[in-house]
Amino acid sequence: MSTAPILIFDSGVGGLTVLTELRKILPDAPVIFAADQAGLPYGAKSEAEIAARVAGLLGRMSERYRPRLACIACNTASTIALEMVREVLEIPIVGTVPAIKPAAAMTKSGVIGLLGTEATIRQGYVDRLEAKFAQDKTLLRHGAPGLVRAAEAKLRGEAIDPDVIASAVSALRSQAGGERIDTVVLACTHFPLLADELGAAFGPDVALIDGAQGIARRIVALCEGQQFDSQTPSMAVTTGPPEQFRSLAPLFAANNIDHLDQF
Ligand code: SIN
Repeated sequence: MSTAPILIFDSGVGGLTVLTELRKILPDAPVIFAADQAGLPYGAKSEAEIAARVAGLLGRMSERYRPRLACIACNTASTIALEMVREVLEIPIVGTVPAIKPAAAMTKSGVIGLLGTEATIRQGYVDRLEAKFAQDKTLLRHGAPGLVRAAEAKLRGEAIDPDVIASAVSALRSQAGGERIDTVVLACTHFPLLADELGAAFGPDVALIDGAQGIARRIVALCEGQQFDSQTPSMAVTTGPPEQFRSLAPLFAANNIDHLDQF
């Protein structure tokens, strides 16, 4: 039986949306949840900076924790650095890419909104997903960096500025003109943490789609046939200040992670 953990990596705690789905299927598997909070937000950084940072950190984390696989639970990092990380590390790497395919299958109006970070929405990776799955649809993109901060603040129990939500919604709606957006892709793992607020602002006729469930299923599929040592403790680590991270302890405990540390 292997003690090797599953490594879930994010720029912050948006990856908790993936961890929560994973825990529904593998409640006891050893997991290392790694938040690069010292590097947050990725969305405002250049492609070169993100690629170097993500590849460097994942390399060092792989050496220290010896994971059986790693999940980059961050759309910005995945759309920029996934291929590079796959070339460097010798373990399976699961990426997180915008859920344009299911959105295209679901939309009735043919108008899809996509909320991501500024870095994610300009990626060729997104252009390719659009060309492959949503060629006959209208895909409207908006980079909403304020939502990343708002999601992190919400998890720390702080109030969210309602203007941040309202301006993300109106930015997409104004691009749509007279057309009706009926499906919105949450192309950042932080954004499902604001599903209640975004759902209320978009209204009941707009479906919000994210990839967390599909990513969790992909991780489980890659682990098929493998055994987990449920006695191996799971751990959450941050590159940022440990005090702020500790305030998230109950959320990690709810996901079977009792040990928090600094990386
Ligand atoms: C961010 O760090 O800007 C958020 C990254 C993401 O999940 O896309």
